[in-house]
Amino acid sequence: MCGIVGYVGDGNVYKILINGLYRLEYRGYDSAGIALGSAGKINIFKTVGKVDNLVNFCKDKDTDCTFGIAHTRWATHGAPSDCNAHPHYSEDGNIALVHNGTIENYKLLKEALEEHGCRFHTQTDTEVLVQLVSWIRHENQCTLVEAVREALKQVIGAYAIAVIAKDDPDTIVAARKQSPLVIGIGDNETFLASDATPFVEYTKDVVYLEDEQIALIRKGKPLKIFNFENEESTINVKKLELSISQLEKGGYPHFMLKEIFEQPNTLLDCIRGRVVQGGKKVVLNGVNDNKDKFLNARRIIIVACGTSWHASLIGKRLLQDMCRIPVEVEYASEFRYSNPVITPDDVVIAISQSGETADTLAAVEIARKAGAFVYGISNVVGSSIPRNTDSGTYIHVGPEIGVASTKAFTGQVMVLTLLALTIAELKGTMTQLEIEEMGQWILRIPKIVEEVLGLAPQIERLSLIYTYARNFLYLGRGYSYPVALEGALKLKEISYIHAEGYPAAEMKHGPIALIDAEMPSVIIAPNDHLYEKIVSNVQQVKSRGGSTIAIVTKGDTEISSIANHVLEVPKVPEMLSPIITTIPLQLLSYYIAINKEKDVDMPRNLAKSVTVE
Ligand code: F6R
Repeated sequence: MCGIVGYVGDGNVYKILINGLYRLEYRGYDSAGIALGSAGKINIFKTVGKVDNLVNFCKDKDTDCTFGIAHTRWATHGAPSDCNAHPHYSEDGNIALVHNGTIENYKLLKEALEEHGCRFHTQTDTEVLVQLVSWIRHENQCTLVEAVREALKQVIGAYAIAVIAKDDPDTIVAARKQSPLVIGIGDNETFLASDATPFVEYTKDVVYLEDEQIALIRKGKPLKIFNFENEESTINVKKLELSISQLEKGGYPHFMLKEIFEQPNTLLDCIRGRVVQGGKKVVLNGVNDNKDKFLNARRIIIVACGTSWHASLIGKRLLQDMCRIPVEVEYASEFRYSNPVITPDDVVIAISQSGETADTLAAVEIARKAGAFVYGISNVVGSSIPRNTDSGTYIHVGPEIGVASTKAFTGQVMVLTLLALTIAELKGTMTQLEIEEMGQWILRIPKIVEEVLGLAPQIERLSLIYTYARNFLYLGRGYSYPVALEGALKLKEISYIHAEGYPAAEMKHGPIALIDAEMPSVIIAPNDHLYEKIVSNVQQVKSRGGSTIAIVTKGDTEISSIANHVLEVPKVPEMLSPIITTIPLQLLSYYIAINKEKDVDMPRNLAKSVTVE
């Protein structure tokens, strides 16, 4: 989704802003732009398409400047076009502004401004905001920061903004509400961005802007942060735990492939210090520190979106099986508008890789207001969800750059497993022996994942047979049903092939009508307690002429003798099987997308961090 970069300092402003935009490319965008300022001058350049287009466009332009802001846009109001790209500017050309989020009352504001004689040149909600700031500044003869504050008081919606003015050089005013902004404090230079990736090589000292805070960033002067009542806030500088090497491909052709192959290590990082004493004990501080909340929970509600929602479905089974607590899983986007019944005895778990998903954040807000204990599971340290929940756990899988989530999914499932085991121990719903057995299996998982990754050449060959299929069905039961959903989502996202995930037994209630020789089915069938049931589902597909790719446990004979193709994975306990069976599905979608020459890291229309609802 949209990305913001800003810089004030002695460095090469144009270069820093452009490199920052390249770093934010992974978030997903359709156009890019830059506003370059110096005393009495702001040059704005913007183009539809990739950051490369912007760079080409700027080649013969005046990029000399002392401060600036830049933006990658993911269209909401108005189609992707040069004109709708950010930065937007006031009619007198004095003020330039970039914006992430949506202004819900932009029509009303626009009408009011038109009555005052303002004219608009784009279809965006953002242009309304910059004209409003400019109008307030003229009317009240006030400073930029005052005008921004007054304008934002009139705005309904979500935003992160950065604003500059010709007549206020070497200054950036930034503000946020429900959309992230982080400030990097260097030596005599200050950075601003949607996340810390654009400035990681320059500074590790960061300040995360809070909702309804306005930052005044000036060259050679200390950072100031105010609330909407103009009271100065204390500045809380945090240390960034991110290195430049984590943002590079490390020899892989794509971030997605790198992230798939990183999983033995990311899972190791995820369990480090949490499964201790050789597997005898599982410790999750967020749970142990809030024992009472989990022990007294009447039920657990998990809210999430997309891949994180699939991880949540696995979490539901884990928590029910291990802890015997009723669990509900909700799409955050539905939950927030469903008038949910939440009581202070409920524990709400919000799962989000980015920690910034607007719908999940809104669900957190609702749960907190209703008095529930809210627990966050996230990957991005310092992001909004961890900062707005009562407690939580980081999955610690490192930055995920590929838009299609892979290592974050397995990290989420692993954390949910640890969470369930920790609660099970507290509640006494599992014996010490059972916990130890699981703990020891968990310690073996990174090695087992490494073994499964050895299937890559076989899956690459298999992908050639199915590259041009137009539709796929993914089937699974029990713990493998969410894996089927996730496998189908991965294929859709990066190869643009239609795929549906289904509980295997539901197939006969409708989707079976679709099966013919043109419609392959991927069947996730490890040797678990539903194995015999799924054998008959494979037969049902085969007898209707459908071809089948089955993920089975090593040594399988029954399904192996019926399915067209089998991918064998090592045996693990049923509760750990999703982490193992999902790996071949990630690889299958990757190779199919590569065969189709798709942009796997930045699939069309998708955004990594979905900060609008
Ligand atoms: C799919 C994918 C998305 C995200 C979803 C939620 O590969 O990545 O479906 O899972 O947008 O994002 P987070 O987890 O950041 O809340």
